[in-house]
Amino acid sequence: MASHSVSEMLPVSLLYKQGELRPSRLPPIPGASSAHNHRISLHRGDITKLSVDAIVNAANSSLLGGGGVDGAIHRAAGPELRQECQTLGGCRTGSAKITGAYQLPCKKVIHAVGPIYNQQDPAGSEAYLRSCYDTSLRIAVENNLETIAFSAISTGVYGYPSMDAAHIACDTVRKFLDSDAGATLQTIVFVTFERKDVDAYRIIIPRHFTPATDGA
Ligand code: APR
Repeated sequence: MASHSVSEMLPVSLLYKQGELRPSRLPPIPGASSAHNHRISLHRGDITKLSVDAIVNAANSSLLGGGGVDGAIHRAAGPELRQECQTLGGCRTGSAKITGAYQLPCKKVIHAVGPIYNQQDPAGSEAYLRSCYDTSLRIAVENNLETIAFSAISTGVYGYPSMDAAHIACDTVRKFLDSDAGATLQTIVFVTFERKDVDAYRIIIPRHFTPATDGA
């Protein structure tokens, strides 16, 4: 099946113009702005088809594959991905490690290990999830990668509520782009797959990445 280039990922600025995204009726999050609307994209589909610099996998601490997006990435990449992962010695929750992409159309895979959502400790779960996004962005910048597509980490098997996860993803990415460290990143794509995450991002994105006053 054909891959999708980053030019096919519509930025938030265009999604507003086309009415795909609407301004939020809720008060914007402190620090929300339109400054990054040209660099943030939202795409529903199979992350293994994206020919971006890096895709971010929702892995487990073994880094040896599994179900969900992890399974899809390993299947599409081929056996060499697991062979490289076997040399990495696993990865702790909240962190991430980078590998080659092999038969995938992207250049690199960043394997982030999200938290299993803990209803008794939502703050702890949030800290781990924030760290996954922040660490993945830092690894992308350190490896001179400019376009990065995130799967919705922890929102499947690991049970993270989609709205909360989308808020954490958007907040962490926005703050990273506000910092000097984010200057070299060109495009960050939030990739959704199931309806619940599509709905969550359509509600949450406008609270963080607000329409420009000139509508852009
Ligand atoms: N492309 C993009 N997103 C996908 C794809 C795909 N091909 N397949 C699934 N997803 C989405 C799911 O809909 C969910 O929103 O990825 C998100 C993460 O869900 P999971 O893959 O279940 O990952 P997670 O919840 O982080 O649980 C990780 O599951 O697969 C195992 O090895 C993995 O043990 C780890 C655990």
